[in-house]
Amino acid sequence: MSELDKITLTAGGKAFDLPVLQPTLGQPCVDIAALPKESGCFTFDPGFGATASTKSAITYIDGDAGVLLYRGYPIEQLAEKSSFLEVAYLLLNGELPSKEEFAGFEHAVSHHTMMHESLKHFFRGFHHDAHPMAMLAASVASLSAFYHDNLDVDDPADRKMAAIRLIAKMPTIAAACYRYSIGWPFSYPRNNLEYVERFLHMMFEVPSEPLQLNPVAAKALDLLFILHADHEQNASTSTVRLVGSTGANPYASVAAGITALWGPAHGGANEAVLKMLEEIGSPDNVESAVRRAKDKNDNFRLMGFGHRVYKNFDPRAKIIREMCHKVLAELGVNDPLLEVAMKLEEAALKDEYFVERKLYPNVDFYSGIIYKALRIPTEMFTVMFAIARTAGWIAHWIEQHETPGARIGRPRQLYTGSGVRDYVPVDKR
Ligand code: CMC
Repeated sequence: MSELDKITLTAGGKAFDLPVLQPTLGQPCVDIAALPKESGCFTFDPGFGATASTKSAITYIDGDAGVLLYRGYPIEQLAEKSSFLEVAYLLLNGELPSKEEFAGFEHAVSHHTMMHESLKHFFRGFHHDAHPMAMLAASVASLSAFYHDNLDVDDPADRKMAAIRLIAKMPTIAAACYRYSIGWPFSYPRNNLEYVERFLHMMFEVPSEPLQLNPVAAKALDLLFILHADHEQNASTSTVRLVGSTGANPYASVAAGITALWGPAHGGANEAVLKMLEEIGSPDNVESAVRRAKDKNDNFRLMGFGHRVYKNFDPRAKIIREMCHKVLAELGVNDPLLEVAMKLEEAALKDEYFVERKLYPNVDFYSGIIYKALRIPTEMFTVMFAIARTAGWIAHWIEQHETPGARIGRPRQLYTGSGVRDYVPVDKR
């Protein structure tokens, strides 16, 4: 057999075999579960750069080839031919839906979009300038309070209902976060609209006049949602799984995912990119920004650049870059930040520092310019990411609960603290 099926380790003069697990695609993994017992050692992998935390059949990434597959389907094909809601179905169920299956799913999602009226009171506790990600995380966590008692995480039907509720309510809650921050009344979801249009309607509708939805904006947002829907074991999905492994309910698990997404090294990068581009301000300042990003004494990084897994290019960034030009042209928006972004990309891709480290634009580099063209405020960018990623988070949470023998996630550590010492009374310290 050409496949590597085991790795032999030697510890203290004793050799033992570690089985090698074969994936359907990608790199094999050494199963180290027996290592502590056999060798007395744990493994040390800060940042989990070399560790597969789970088996999963949802999303596949080949970071060297720039490949992203949802349930085996290339992201480029889904971006061109599918819709976000169909992709959500695919992530959850493993297969593309038939016409009838999709109609059933769409109907279920459309009929769970309303927020409990009591949830609206929670918003009033926030100051008007609270960050929408803080409001989103708190509101989603509080869904546990509305749907906790009758939810059995071991019941497949309850798990499915939680998935539908989360996918359905996330846009309603997201729009409420925005409307609260600008002092508009909350908006009710319109079931006659499709998922993304319904969200845009809830964001921008005012009671005083009808809203003309722009189909270009809806199509662009749908595409961004497809591209953000899942990304295997990233920090927020791993957080959802870690929380989920304790048996916590799905709303609490997803709320934890939202807080993990917020950080600028992860989903918060889209907000950070726009702020960075505004700060750079003009193509003339690009050179000094690149210089700063390379300076190890300066903590400035090129936001929207680099990725833990993609060492060639991020296939989502390629699609978004193209789409950015198209959307701005179709909406008749002339944003000088696009020129700054293009100059920055060009300068970084030519620079030895970025070439050597294989740092390419990631999904967040151009997405902010599109959100801005759609009139989505900067502070809502990561909320947009969260709406889309909810499909992936809940698909992973369900997969975790369907996996027999799953255990609580409980990493170990390399202790570097003090040795054992005796307590000293305060008058003797
Ligand atoms: N600008 C300047 N230098 C960078 C950047 C950057 N954006 N990213 C990485 N580097 C350097 C880093 O300093 C290090 O250099 P050296 O080898 O000299 O110490 C080298 O490249 C490797 O970086 P790392 O920090 O070890 O890589 P990582 O895999 O731990 O981090 C990352 C990946 C995405 C957190 C990082 O590239 C980064 O901070 N990028 C900017 C934030 C960003 O755009 N995040 C969005 C990621 S994609 C969407 C998502 O996940 O939500």
